Amino acid sequence: MSTSVNPRRTFAIISHPDAGKTTLTEKLLLQGGAIHLAGEVKARGQARRARSDWMKIEQQRGISVTSSVMTFEKEHEGQAITFNLLDTPGHEDFSEDTYRTLTAVDSAIMVIDAAKGIEPQTRKLFEVCRLRSVPIITFVNKVDREGRDPFETLDEVADMLALDVSPQMWPIGMGGLFEGILDFRTGEVARPEGDSKEYLGKREANATIPEQYVEEYELAQAGYPEFDLEAYRNGDLTPVYFGSALKNFGVEELIDAIARYAPPPRPQPAGEQQITPDHDEVTGFIFKVQANMDPMHRDRIAFMRQVSGTFKRGMKLTPSGLGKPIAVHSPILFFAQDREIADTAEPGDIIGIPNHGTLRVGDTLSEKNQIRFTGLPNFAPEILRRVQLRDPTKTKQLRKALDDLSEEGVIQVFYPVIGGSSIVGVVGQLQLEVLISRLEAEYKVEAALEASPFATARWLKGPDAALDDFERFNQGNLARDRDGDLVFMAKSPWDVGYQEEKNPDLKFSATKER
Ligand code: G4P
Repeated sequence: MSTSVNPRRTFAIISHPDAGKTTLTEKLLLQGGAIHLAGEVKARGQARRARSDWMKIEQQRGISVTSSVMTFEKEHEGQAITFNLLDTPGHEDFSEDTYRTLTAVDSAIMVIDAAKGIEPQTRKLFEVCRLRSVPIITFVNKVDREGRDPFETLDEVADMLALDVSPQMWPIGMGGLFEGILDFRTGEVARPEGDSKEYLGKREANATIPEQYVEEYELAQAGYPEFDLEAYRNGDLTPVYFGSALKNFGVEELIDAIARYAPPPRPQPAGEQQITPDHDEVTGFIFKVQANMDPMHRDRIAFMRQVSGTFKRGMKLTPSGLGKPIAVHSPILFFAQDREIADTAEPGDIIGIPNHGTLRVGDTLSEKNQIRFTGLPNFAPEILRRVQLRDPTKTKQLRKALDDLSEEGVIQVFYPVIGGSSIVGVVGQLQLEVLISRLEAEYKVEAALEASPFATARWLKGPDAALDDFERFNQGNLARDRDGDLVFMAKSPWDVGYQEEKNPDLKFSATKER
């Protein structure tokens, strides 16, 4: 048994597709010794695709729909640190999966393509981070290529995200004349080696930098705020690292920055309380459930972010949704290439708990069953579709499937108050394709999605009398979600505003706490 516990850093990478997230992940894992050859992350992706043939869509579109966890360890100033990297689906469509992954991390790296700047989806993810006060380190990737003026990128980050930016690494001569990366903290320069322009690990302390660049980096150093730990942790400032994932520039410095600055496991709100990592029992919450990882079993893996205590294998935890304890005999820890049964886990760690559908996204798990974590929202769907069965005798199967899949967080389901077909809601188009393909593959239900008259949904809260009144007059626009909660189905955002004004006693909420 180990006597001392490594500090944890639990983080995610957010980026636009093609910005270099996969490449950066791979380099981070290489540096951490978790994989040994470049290409393994991609290869692993292929192996996983081959295995999870239930998810035809992954193969058809060559994308990974599901996110996972990668753990690696690296020494920082004489202390081993455990890094938990949560992968988010690398596709332009957001699913709730992506959003929820961000509920389970303590910080994030935002990867930007030096030539392209911030794309709208990245901005959306950034906003989710901000909503949850998740601090962000910015990595401006691909500086080995011809790109935009780095000042332009800095100013864009500052303007678009309303953040202070503080450059920490600076590209010397971006593009064809690339001379290397200057580390403002140490004053050292990492230079390209030979023609490959690859960084091979040598850093020069008193490197001479071609004169034409001196003024530029001095300006960069003097013209922006200094790094301020508190401002970063509050989400008011982002340190910016220019680098190249492919050529390995700035990657080591990035890990160093996560070790040095990124916050340790955070307390999690539970109503009025804040549960800190040293709380006197094991607690955690489920942020993701993945069904049918193995086509031979109908098992699910629930991913738990541990909030407090030291978990030991076999421990009994009570899920808030169930009320009676379950023994966690085979908790899974995720490594780059492998999954392992975990004997112990600490706050900040993610463990996978196999189950038969008892664990739901948003559930709290705890030893004493006294607290409930809050702040794990459902997001108002942006796309709503009516589900039309091809074979009307399969109503029951469809209902079961929709309930299951909404429990898993693939979709949200709304049952109109006055009959009619079920309506599914998603925040990204891709979720709909996943839905159809899984209905067929797993539930043998053939269904089609049709336009619905609704554009968005709002969860209703308020005094019973006001709710009853509203219900009486708006039956055609009301539905109940999987938990039976009342939802206003709006034909347009204008509709929401109109009803809000007309019904001041009611709250029209775009998120719902699970
Ligand atoms: P993603 O996961 O964010 O979608 O991006 P990914 O890492 O797959 O990278 C997208 C493309 O950008 C890849 O090229 C990758 O090699 C390239 N790339 C990533 N980092 C850098 C960098 O620092 N410099 C340069 N010049 N290129 C970089 P590809 O041709 O699409 O894929 P592949 O043929 O290399 O696999």
